[in-house]
Amino acid sequence: MSNKDEVRLIVDGKRLDGRAFDELRPIKIKVGVLKRADGSCYLEMGKNKVVVAVYGPREVHPRHLQDPVKAVVRYRYNMAPFSVEERKRPGPDRRSVEISKVSREALEAIVMKELFPRSGIDVFVEVLQADAGSRTACLNAASVALVDAGVPMKGMISSVAVAKVDGELVLDPMKEEDFYGEADMPFAFFIRNDRIESIALLQMDGRVTKDEFIKAVKMAKDGAMRIYKMQKEAIKSKYVVESEEEVD
Ligand code: CDP
Repeated sequence: MSNKDEVRLIVDGKRLDGRAFDELRPIKIKVGVLKRADGSCYLEMGKNKVVVAVYGPREVHPRHLQDPVKAVVRYRYNMAPFSVEERKRPGPDRRSVEISKVSREALEAIVMKELFPRSGIDVFVEVLQADAGSRTACLNAASVALVDAGVPMKGMISSVAVAKVDGELVLDPMKEEDFYGEADMPFAFFIRNDRIESIALLQMDGRVTKDEFIKAVKMAKDGAMRIYKMQKEAIKSKYVVESEEEVD
């Protein structure tokens, strides 16, 4: 698969992994996987495997970073060197700095920062395996980990990308679709009271028409609502089990 133009991504109306155009990859969510974090989550979205640790609200160091009227949210997206085919050099790079920034901004839409002046809420995100859409997988996990940490929030963030491949819009692109496709649009939605309130993140590589863009937003919204239900189920299942254990 060397030449972009020679790669067919849709064969007989199906994607390379057999999915329908509007189908998500399988998602697995486990809440509270790390003992030492205040909140945590392990999430798989297709072949993406990510783990998130949340600390706080806690005192901010260095102190000059404190905000006297609200909490400071910090988000660190980090890719393990072994998470991608070609070993990634450890440490931050332009891509991880950009992803950390836009993801933090998305989460700031839901965290009730004004309740915790001078404090910090730290979200550490580790990508163990990446297969396109890792920023969306990380945001889905981060949102759950924040709930697990008991951070007061106005709602949830649910995130998914839409790509254009072989002239068709497809939900939740995997690596081949991301790499050889014509456009890639990661979305994150702020969901409050079981409905979408606003778009908290939207990025775009490539080109789509106005009609395609409108269709992509609808596809992403539908996908995000399905992810939101899974996030809620994962959170509920942790606390239902814990409360049953307490009774015993
Ligand atoms: O992962 P996401 O789609 O949010 O970000 P991207 O920059 O569009 O990267 C797409 C995919 O390219 C990643 O998920 C990885 O599978 C792959 N990638 C890689 O192989 N090596 C890197 N240094 C960065 C990304």
